[in-house]
Amino acid sequence: MIVRELLKDFYEKFYVANNKCNVFFAPGRVNLIGGHVDYHGGFVLPCAINYGTYLVISKRDDNEVYGFSKNFKDIGILGKGFDNLEYDESDNWFNYPKGIIKNLIEKGYKISNGFNMLFYGNIPNGAGLSSSASLELVILTALNSIFDFKLTKIEMVLIAKEVENDYVGVNCGIMDQYAIAFGKKNNAILLDCKLNKHEYVEMDLKDNKIMIINSNKQRKLADSKYNERRDESYSGLKIIMEKANKKNISELKIEDFEKYNNEISNETERKRAKHVIYENNRTINAGKLLKENDLANFGKLINESHKSLKNDYEVSCDELDYLVELMIDDDSVIGSRMTGAGFGGCTVNIVKENEIERIIEKVNKNYFEKFGFYPSIYVADVGDGCKEMRLES
Ligand code: GLA
Repeated sequence: MIVRELLKDFYEKFYVANNKCNVFFAPGRVNLIGGHVDYHGGFVLPCAINYGTYLVISKRDDNEVYGFSKNFKDIGILGKGFDNLEYDESDNWFNYPKGIIKNLIEKGYKISNGFNMLFYGNIPNGAGLSSSASLELVILTALNSIFDFKLTKIEMVLIAKEVENDYVGVNCGIMDQYAIAFGKKNNAILLDCKLNKHEYVEMDLKDNKIMIINSNKQRKLADSKYNERRDESYSGLKIIMEKANKKNISELKIEDFEKYNNEISNETERKRAKHVIYENNRTINAGKLLKENDLANFGKLINESHKSLKNDYEVSCDELDYLVELMIDDDSVIGSRMTGAGFGGCTVNIVKENEIERIIEKVNKNYFEKFGFYPSIYVADVGDGCKEMRLES
């Protein structure tokens, strides 16, 4: 249905007779556990969701590139040749296609024609569900296909991450791009961010569903304290690694932290290191519990993860804490935590399916009473990674 509508919109915006067009989709992702450990080479457990970004694309006969986003209708059609691909604040969302194109050209991939693009995303922007990584990956998947670059998934992941880090200027880890490329229906991805290798863990949620609650407290990842946290945690972790004689953060055990943490004189750095080591070990355990289908204990680790992100890593906020509080007090909730970078954005929750309506009502009412605005609530399925869509769908 969505695809048919987008094709209609595409032809209205960019009518070019007889031009073949293709449709691609890249999901958003939600991280079940493993918050702020990817950039330290730890383990994370995200999954792709059935919300994401659609792209209709068609080659042109010239060398111009045009894009229209249904999410930013007011901006209209943006267009550029291949000659000016530098980042430009005023280009807004169009910087993402520009960044990807620039990166591909610099790597020697030959983009032989221009093309028209129409985008539509149903993930909330800047809410911690990776709308930007989804946009990067949908573009890469499309260009890879229509120009036959033969890029592998991991190559696309690394290009998208490079664009985010060096072109957009957000110093993120690899989790978002990886989960979006490698997502698999009904599976979580236990990803080792040091080796960039994953294992799928089947998610049998039984009579439960994933509920994502957007606090609607906007956060700006690039402006946030993300980089500051990275640096603070690294300083403490370095001390423990040296003392424990371990080369990688992912090898650090809880015992190492308990034995050597008093060597870290700065209290903030100690707390940051504590979160990373405990969270990494929690994620490994959570992966095991999910494999064993032990949802109750899996949920407990999700709750602990939130506490640690709140108290030790200090990346939560009142709105997220309140949402988690409302959920963990409810018998129909298996686990609840903030997800993504934090400082606003979303919580991820595992809830009993037949209690969803009641929970939505309760959360809306209480949250509005406390903050004067509503959250947005999504019930999500675990979906596939980026792919081409069949046109008849
Ligand atoms: C953002 C980043 C990820 C990861 C999370 C926190 O989503 O893009 O790389 O660091 O924050 O877990």
